[in-house]
Amino acid sequence: MQIVVLDSARDIARQVSAILLSQVRAKPDSVLGFATGSSPIETYRLLIEAHRAGEADFSRVTTFNLDEYCSLPQDDPHSYYAFMKTQLFAPAGFDYGRVHFLSGLAEDHEAICRAYRAEIAQCGGIDVQLLGIGRNGHIGFNEPSDRFSDGPFMVELAQSTLDANARFFENGTPPRFALTMGVGDILAAKKILLIATGDSKAKAISAMVHGPVTPQCPASALQNHPDVTVFLDRAAARLL
Ligand code: F6R
Repeated sequence: MQIVVLDSARDIARQVSAILLSQVRAKPDSVLGFATGSSPIETYRLLIEAHRAGEADFSRVTTFNLDEYCSLPQDDPHSYYAFMKTQLFAPAGFDYGRVHFLSGLAEDHEAICRAYRAEIAQCGGIDVQLLGIGRNGHIGFNEPSDRFSDGPFMVELAQSTLDANARFFENGTPPRFALTMGVGDILAAKKILLIATGDSKAKAISAMVHGPVTPQCPASALQNHPDVTVFLDRAAARLL
């Protein structure tokens, strides 16, 4: 695991966006795995800038997002689909025909999860997976548990995740269930970039880097991946 500690979220976004841009320039039909939440927003802003400046073409990129809330339609402004549309896909010129999401509305969620995994495989696997990390060490919505998940599945979100994400909901209540890629899907990506900023992530980062590999800290599984770079500000790196 390579650890890069930088002064600010802006510096992190510059480095992460540069990696994504060179990936897409080298392979215009790259398969990228995206995350939602606060951590990648500045990176997405720089990708949009590059597109507007005519320096990047994302029209042939295939995307897979990590997770989606159950019970929200895609056009609900709180859905992760809506987040990605606003924060990246529309302003950066992605082709919606190549955008993949787990559908939180599906009745047969097991079939949706199997199909998602098959679609990732059909596209040749994910070239670069972008991740954030939860305060409890979750990646995607893989919450601490007794075993590592392999493929996509439906998860009941931990109370700490519901509390952390309440800020995105006017009523303060995110849906309790979500669909997420499994830890196995994340580890299957060829390259992984993880962003964490702020003091509230310091404990999870320390457990991910120095702790035992345990499903109680799902991010610790990244210790077993050959190409992970972790971008931190000084606050998130405080306990390393
Ligand atoms: C979001 C996701 C989550 C977030 C994590 C950190 O798609 O998969 O694992 O990356 O909860 O969220 P922020 O960046 O808001 O602190």
